[in-house]
Amino acid sequence: MKSNRARQGGGGPRDFGAELKYSSQHQNMNGLEEGVEFLPANNAKKVEKHGPKCWVVLAAVVTGVSVLSLLVGFLVWHFQSRNAQVPMIFNGHLRITNEKFLDAYEDSNSTEFVNLATKVKEALKLLYRGIPVLGPYHKESAVTAFSEGSVIAYYWSEFSLPQHLAEEAEWSMAQERIVTLPPRARALQSFVMTSVVAFPTDPRMAQTTRDNSCSFALHARGGELTRFTTPGFPDSPYPARAHCQWALRGDAGAVLSLTFRSFDVAPCDGHDRDMVAVYDTLSPMEPHVLVQLCGAYPPSYNLTFLSSQNVLLVTLITTTERRHPGFEATFFQLPKMSSCGGYFRQAQGTFSSPYYPAHYPPNIDCTWDIEVPANRNVKVRFNVFYLVEPEVALGTCTKDYVEIHGARYCGEKPQFVVTSNSSRVTVRFHSDASYTDTGFLAEFLSYDSSDPCPGMFTCNTGRCIRKALRCDGWVDCADHSDELNCQCNPAHQFTCKNKFCKPLYWVCDNVNDCGDNSDELGCSCPAQNFKCGNGKCLPKSQQCDGRDNCGDGSDEATCDRVSTVTCTKHTYRCHSGLCVNKANPECDGQQDCADGSDEKDCDCGLRLFSKRSRVVGGEDADVGEWPWQVSLHAQGQGHVCGASLISPSWLVSAAHCYVDDRGFKYSDPTLWTAYLGLLDQSDRSAQGVQEHRLKRIIPHAFFNDFTYDYDIAVLELERPAEYSNVVRPVCLPDATHVFPAGKAIWVTGWGHTQEGGTGALILQKGEIRVINQTTCESLLPQQLTSRMMCVGYLSGGVDACQGDSGGPLSSVEADGRIFQAGVVSWGEGCARRDKPGVYTKLSEFRDWIKEKTGV
Ligand code: ARG
Repeated sequence: MKSNRARQGGGGPRDFGAELKYSSQHQNMNGLEEGVEFLPANNAKKVEKHGPKCWVVLAAVVTGVSVLSLLVGFLVWHFQSRNAQVPMIFNGHLRITNEKFLDAYEDSNSTEFVNLATKVKEALKLLYRGIPVLGPYHKESAVTAFSEGSVIAYYWSEFSLPQHLAEEAEWSMAQERIVTLPPRARALQSFVMTSVVAFPTDPRMAQTTRDNSCSFALHARGGELTRFTTPGFPDSPYPARAHCQWALRGDAGAVLSLTFRSFDVAPCDGHDRDMVAVYDTLSPMEPHVLVQLCGAYPPSYNLTFLSSQNVLLVTLITTTERRHPGFEATFFQLPKMSSCGGYFRQAQGTFSSPYYPAHYPPNIDCTWDIEVPANRNVKVRFNVFYLVEPEVALGTCTKDYVEIHGARYCGEKPQFVVTSNSSRVTVRFHSDASYTDTGFLAEFLSYDSSDPCPGMFTCNTGRCIRKALRCDGWVDCADHSDELNCQCNPAHQFTCKNKFCKPLYWVCDNVNDCGDNSDELGCSCPAQNFKCGNGKCLPKSQQCDGRDNCGDGSDEATCDRVSTVTCTKHTYRCHSGLCVNKANPECDGQQDCADGSDEKDCDCGLRLFSKRSRVVGGEDADVGEWPWQVSLHAQGQGHVCGASLISPSWLVSAAHCYVDDRGFKYSDPTLWTAYLGLLDQSDRSAQGVQEHRLKRIIPHAFFNDFTYDYDIAVLELERPAEYSNVVRPVCLPDATHVFPAGKAIWVTGWGHTQEGGTGALILQKGEIRVINQTTCESLLPQQLTSRMMCVGYLSGGVDACQGDSGGPLSSVEADGRIFQAGVVSWGEGCARRDKPGVYTKLSEFRDWIKEKTGV
């Protein structure tokens, strides 16, 4: 399917249908050029004439002449601006049906290439000549490549045309046409070009059409991998303002598989951006683009693309001056899939989109015909589903889709199930000409219609979930059906108005957990009052008065104007000593202090990879996702505690990790090794991992080994760490920084994945929420101090556990920066109901950290 651009509005002749045939008699159609005529700019002079000497006449003539010249001047101006010529370059391809492909066509210097290219150019010229909106404005065309089938030619055509015709020209070029050159005297057959179509090119790309300095042609050899990189990779950044292209080919009948092994170009933000594009053709034609890439991708991200034919084009356009290494890519050829889909006659099985987990090829249709034993029903479960295309309106599925029973599925979806109330189902997959994704992974199962989920709960969507997840307060079925019609347990659950059951301690935490806000209703403040983040009620007049009346700064947090106020223990103090009435102003991308000190020292809290890998299930973290996470290994014991990187030389951790034990001197820095940039404990020599020895361990002097009060330590590295894609510091919150109750925060570590279980090999992450201090005091009576905060799980038993200690709580703050809210300290068991984890509040120790480390 082709997705030609629809023409929007505009008038003028449009008398050329989609498949116009041209032949010799159309050659002399120059008369069509009459539509536009230029007024010579000096016409004004011609109207000046000498006349009678009478001054009256003269005056009249002078006035007349001035008026006339003004008029003419205006007309000239009008027509000139209307007819101001704009350059336009189109890229296209066409098929020469009655030629055979010769190997020499791959070499643009061969005589065969030159001869055929000349014929194509001639035919294009003839074609344009017959089209009023194109003919008079055609400047030049060139053939850039040929490929098999019979022969496909890739070309560009340059026009210089009046602005007001641009849209119509675009429309005209996008029409697929056929051109026939009549047989020449000596040649016996005519020259036929079909599917002639072209699209406007990114003006920046136009330069590459002429300048070959960064243009490469590569042909896959046998089944071997061919490698190519951006210029200078990996030792020097790719050039600024570069226009590069790589034309990739395989043998006739093959398809290509292209993989970016390493990808790091300038971030996608901003207007000017560096962009890599992959096309399923040898011309950079927008309707055949497979992907456009910018930013950095972690090595685990699947960047493999398949072509529909034996060619691919990779382009790099850079407009920024930023210094990034660029990419390294490989490609190889493989035989074209003869059929796609399957025929299953069995009780269960799996299937996936073609070449999963690589990006499926464009222009492909697959059908799976599935039939399970006759007395059973069949259901299809999609465990992974990514059919995302830019600019597809939500829910319309007009481009790539999966179709079952007439319903189309597209976009990105969490696991879902489609059930059939018979033993048969047909699954169709369609991929159109542009943009591909990683596709889907599915399984089909047969079930007994009277008991679709033996031993489990059946969601209304057909999904089976563990019985324990029914009515537990967390939504597990996409349609909430596991939380409908529940009997809440009043001992630890709140009954929402909509009948959902939610943990009692989410009531009045300023987060709408029920969905209908009923858990936050009984706690609202009287009219004319403001509700603080900590639940306190205040007269509205105290809001934004420059004083922290709530005690947590929330009444001053969202004021229209940031102003200088009297300093209190809750106001942020600028370097100048003045204070501002804004909560958490540090590194939020807005200058709040007159001296700019709130935005100084902000090289922290950002991940460099712009994309996250699509991890299937589980809570595995991705490479570079938590670049400040550190693993501390004690001699002979492996991983013992976590820590976070706050500067090249300093880590923050928990004091209790460094308390001597009967058999081991944990306080001795020489017995520890810190691993930075680590993801997998079993792969400590992975790329980017840094191994550091410790120079000093400074536990807080007030640390109490019995109560775990002041559970914080700073560790100095023997030599400074080097920042990279996987090693970066986290931001430290100011002493006045607030992490309000209900806020979602991430906890990370290699600790036990279950109470009494074993440690994880891959770094784990879990999203949890800050719990109101008063609530937590009641859950953990007489154990909390003001240096501690409780953060509990939001869904499915998420908590820190043994081995996570010392690790950071990472909180995404304004401007996307990540601040460390706490240090993993202790808990009663792990992930137990009503026993949230306890963390050392980092903001309480901002001054202490400064004093000990200078950071
Ligand atoms: N003290 C533990 C450690 O040394 C951390 C426990 C955190 N427990 C919890 N349930 N949040 O690793």
